[in-house]
Amino acid sequence: MTTRPFQVEAIRKDFPSLTHNGSQQPLVYLDSAATSQKPKAVIDAISQYYSGATANVHRGSHSLTTAATNRFEAARKTVANFLGAPTNGIVWTRGATEALNLIAQSYARQHLKPGDEILVSEMEHHANIVPWQIVSQQTGATIVKWPIDPSTCTLDLDTFDSLLNEKTKLVVLGHISNVTGTRNPIEPVIEKAHNMGAVVVIDGAQAVVHEGINVTDIDADFYVFSGHKLFAPAGIGALYGKPTLLDAMPPWHGGGKMVEKVSFDGTQFAQSPAKFEAGTPNVAGAIGLAEAINWYSTVNRAEAENHVGQLQSRLVNGIKDIEDMKIIGLQPGASVVAFNVNGVHHSDIATLLDQQGIAVRSGHHCAHPLMDALGINGCVRVSIALYNTEEDIDRCIAAIQKACDLL
Ligand code: ALA
Repeated sequence: MTTRPFQVEAIRKDFPSLTHNGSQQPLVYLDSAATSQKPKAVIDAISQYYSGATANVHRGSHSLTTAATNRFEAARKTVANFLGAPTNGIVWTRGATEALNLIAQSYARQHLKPGDEILVSEMEHHANIVPWQIVSQQTGATIVKWPIDPSTCTLDLDTFDSLLNEKTKLVVLGHISNVTGTRNPIEPVIEKAHNMGAVVVIDGAQAVVHEGINVTDIDADFYVFSGHKLFAPAGIGALYGKPTLLDAMPPWHGGGKMVEKVSFDGTQFAQSPAKFEAGTPNVAGAIGLAEAINWYSTVNRAEAENHVGQLQSRLVNGIKDIEDMKIIGLQPGASVVAFNVNGVHHSDIATLLDQQGIAVRSGHHCAHPLMDALGINGCVRVSIALYNTEEDIDRCIAAIQKACDLL
């Protein structure tokens, strides 16, 4: 696929939701870390599947099901290529959360025992904490926290070295923080963990859209992401697992398609990845995700990230001198800015921004432990995507200033 030179106005034309609507101000959508807007190509691909080609996959022999199955499996290959993975290492899931739960129940539950340790970073999203707490209760393994440096909102490798030991069986880490945009050092973590005999789970939910990733090059064991932050619909995502790990894991959910033969004497399971895909899958979602990746591969990603970083810098420069402004864990060049204004509740700021047509997220961002480490009960998060413009940022700056003046 050839990439086009990055031009934000051309990108925006691909997104129907961003189109100027009569006399209304165009949407200023600065919540892409929660979910992205969707390009027309993705919407059309889903619509076409439902309007002309709906069929189940891997079942029956009529031509519609054959076509749907081919598309569904081609979509798996598209995801595999996107991650630099072998196709048999890609399991469809509902999203990153389900993928993490699958690893917890199908891998960790089989391997962990009392005395073992799961090393979990303190900046994780709840989706990358709670499944490990559940499996810790089931197995007697202990969760060990890798604390952040609250002054920078980063994780320190010396601290990691001091916590990693022969009891560590699993290391669990987000590639990029959903709150601050901190980019974590997954490459040395994987190498060090492997040297200690531990397996590493990377939550790539925030990263796949901003980072090129090649799971083979970095020797990742497990890497998960959701489609909906990558311009695809919600309800579809993927788990990458090393095929040797997946092959040795028992199934998680039982049902149709994950079996070779069922009798009342017992069941012979299918090979992975089918072994982990019980029931009718989200065919339209898989098609939509592949289309999103195809659309994204037409974008010059380096230029797009540069654009996002410049917008982040513009936003920071525009708000840093507002009275009582406290920017939290700023990561220059990242796609997010988290902040609080002393004496003002974060949700009041978000509400006033919404009234001015600016969509941002406020609250704890599903990261209570990170909020506790930072000594806050929440914050406002502005998250920027490649389709945002300087005008979006300037309107956001003016709206934040106005909200602060009012409150
Ligand atoms: N995990 C998403 C966020 O950070 C929903 O907003």
